[in-house]
Amino acid sequence: MHRKLVVNIGCLANVRPQTQLLRGAALSELPLLNNAYLFLEDGLIAAFGSMQTISDELWANEIIDAGGATVLPAWCDSHTHLVFAASREDEFVLKLKGATYAEIAAAGGGILNSAAKLQSAEEEALYTAAWLRLQELMLLGTGAIEIKSGYGLSVEAELKMLRVIKRLKANSPIPVKATFLGAHAFPELFKNNQQAYVDLIIQEMLPAIAAEELADYIDVFCEQGFFSVQQTIQICEAGKQYGLLPKLHVNQLNSIGGVEAGIALGALSLDHLETMTAQDILLLSNAATIGTLLPTAAYFLRMPYQPARDLIDAGCAIALASDFNPGSSPSGNMNMVVSMSCIQMKMLPEEAINAATLNGAYAMGLGDSCGSISVGKKANLIFTKPINSIAYIPYAFGANLIDRVMINGNFL
Ligand code: NIG
Ligand code: FE
Repeated sequence: MHRKLVVNIGCLANVRPQTQLLRGAALSELPLLNNAYLFLEDGLIAAFGSMQTISDELWANEIIDAGGATVLPAWCDSHTHLVFAASREDEFVLKLKGATYAEIAAAGGGILNSAAKLQSAEEEALYTAAWLRLQELMLLGTGAIEIKSGYGLSVEAELKMLRVIKRLKANSPIPVKATFLGAHAFPELFKNNQQAYVDLIIQEMLPAIAAEELADYIDVFCEQGFFSVQQTIQICEAGKQYGLLPKLHVNQLNSIGGVEAGIALGALSLDHLETMTAQDILLLSNAATIGTLLPTAAYFLRMPYQPARDLIDAGCAIALASDFNPGSSPSGNMNMVVSMSCIQMKMLPEEAINAATLNGAYAMGLGDSCGSISVGKKANLIFTKPINSIAYIPYAFGANLIDRVMINGNFL
């Protein structure tokens, strides 16, 4: 057994004997332990406590001196589109110059163009690029991640994308969850026969995905001009037959009933939520479903931010995620997400850290293994540079406050 004793931790953050999803006021409680130690066994947290209580027996193990660092659970990023064939900075520049949607599409922008590029990309190249992105995110403190398909939009290309995610899952030192997002946009071919594409998802994609065990969750972009509430329900009901719980894109641009439908479907999470009615907030506050906010997508698209305060004050369970994708959030930097959530959405530092760790873990079914300093959970940890308080993390936006990242008990 591999045992390590981490000593001289200035502040151990998000320390919890046992955990549960945090909602409402509980989100603002971030339990801290000053002047602490952590004991690790085979990459898992085996014990923790204050420095004065370390037994002689523990001192006999390999010692790591944290040098006064603040130690936090690594970020749990529960919503990304990490696998893609090409970035879209050309589209970005065109938009800055005032280009129209048609001009952007012609220049290689939009979901359908990302799909065309992914369809012609080799699986190996997609894997290599996604693997590199994953390494970069780990260095930025991400210690668990969800990755969606949805740039395939054909049977073969969706399977190719999900096989890439399966390989990432097999080879990555951090937990990876796979979500099937065949319902991201209607392909050109099905523009005048949407039901045929919904049927393709249900009759061909889902059985093939289930046979190869390629997905943990199912997602639909429920939005005007994309998938209707009825289509969302039909696709999710079919997914549930294969054991795939919904994690849905809803209320990004319009409130069309996605929150109500998602809750009725028993969705694990409803993500985006830029556009929420009072009724949507009330429904979510009474549901087990997690609301996942993606502030960097709102930032990049210059949309109003998610109403985090209203959601938390109503008693909702909120998670934060990056939405890393080439179209609306070309960054998977969770430090930025946490900072932006405080600066732009008035979340408290404690709320943002809880939402980006423990609640993020619950939003991808990893609440028992990630997201807090708890015995039995993974030693996926962020060691900060010297800081005086937790609030300094979101306050000093854009600064790299991470000294070292530990994954499964080993520094990267
Ligand atoms: O989560 N909203 C839908 N899908 C992505 C953006 C997709 C794209 O532009 O490529 C999102 O923001
Ligand atoms: Fe997304």
